[in-house]
Amino acid sequence: MTNLPDKTPLHGGDVYFLARTLGVELTDLLDFSASINPLGFPPGLTVAVQEALTEIVHYPDRRSLKLRAALAAYHRLTPEEILVGNGSTELIYLVARALRPNRGLIVIPAFSEYEHALNLARVPVAFHPTRESHHFTLGDVPEPQAGDLVFLAHPASPSGVLLDPELFLTLAARIEAAGAYLLLDEAFIDFVEEASLKIYLGRFPRLMILRSFTKFFGIPGMRLGFLLGAPELIARLAEAQEPWSVNTMAQAMGRACLADREYMSRTRTLIKGEREFLFDRLAALPGLTPFTSVVNYLLVKLTRPDMTAATLRQRMLAHRIVIRDAANFRGLDERFFRLAVRSRTENERLLKALEQCSGI
Ligand SMILES: Cc1ncc(COP(=O)(O)O)c(C=O)c1O
Repeated sequence: MTNLPDKTPLHGGDVYFLARTLGVELTDLLDFSASINPLGFPPGLTVAVQEALTEIVHYPDRRSLKLRAALAAYHRLTPEEILVGNGSTELIYLVARALRPNRGLIVIPAFSEYEHALNLARVPVAFHPTRESHHFTLGDVPEPQAGDLVFLAHPASPSGVLLDPELFLTLAARIEAAGAYLLLDEAFIDFVEEASLKIYLGRFPRLMILRSFTKFFGIPGMRLGFLLGAPELIARLAEAQEPWSVNTMAQAMGRACLADREYMSRTRTLIKGEREFLFDRLAALPGLTPFTSVVNYLLVKLTRPDMTAATLRQRMLAHRIVIRDAANFRGLDERFFRLAVRSRTENERLLKALEQCSGI
């Protein structure tokens, strides 16, 4: 297995690198390391892109007006409360840079780009750890200081559990009282849209909610995300954003995604059923403990003392299956890995390989 990359990657989904290193085609890999809708993108996107192609002779609409209008209608907000970005990652970097916080406070484990964005903006970083007994989501509420920028994911990443709404409300009130900011990352909330905390935006002007088209609509390669917040805050951030970062095709695709309600409900039904299937089957495998989740990924703990997630990942790569070794999430260790929820045949292939690779 000497030709297999053994370093824990920073992110899931680095399939181009893996295919190159393993000397296989991209299509030979089955990727459970990035949590992307297994249905593929909504079918209407093909036509939307073809139509948008005629417009690429112009610069994109800097204000993404049509897309923001569609998002406003879908989320029952106003376009002034929405800022569109080149993936939600661009907006993480923008917020860290433009708000000039005194300190970043990250609830961990967490998506590594929060820390990287704060480092690049030369903002000191502190961490608020969560516990395994709380399924790695908020158990005790941080005490933010003036000028803090707090990062918190809802549902938690990589454990996939929802926040206790009471704890969220306590935190949001403390943020307002302290004169801090809260960036609530709801990149995966589409799978349980009814649980979104966007309903509280009007109440907490220092709350921003980050959203993504990547996961739910299956378009990581297109790069499209958005931020919800109070109009004054959104206007301030828009001022600091690079011009034309969201291209014409991405804007058209976003509108086509929002128009396809049938795809959305098919996705929610599929993911719920397959998540339950995968969870039950994983729980039945000796040496593995999955965590309950409401989204399209499952955090799993290896309970065998003689195996690490890195070893398991290596072994799975020999089957051309990619899993996310989660050891490099702050607050987790070498026993944790994360799996995407995919289609039934793909999940069955994963389970079969896992059974072989995690056995003695
Ligand atoms: C919790 C979380 N937030 C945000 C992102 C960024 O997603 P994107 O930039 O594709 O919108 C990711 C990507 O993996 C993520 O896991």
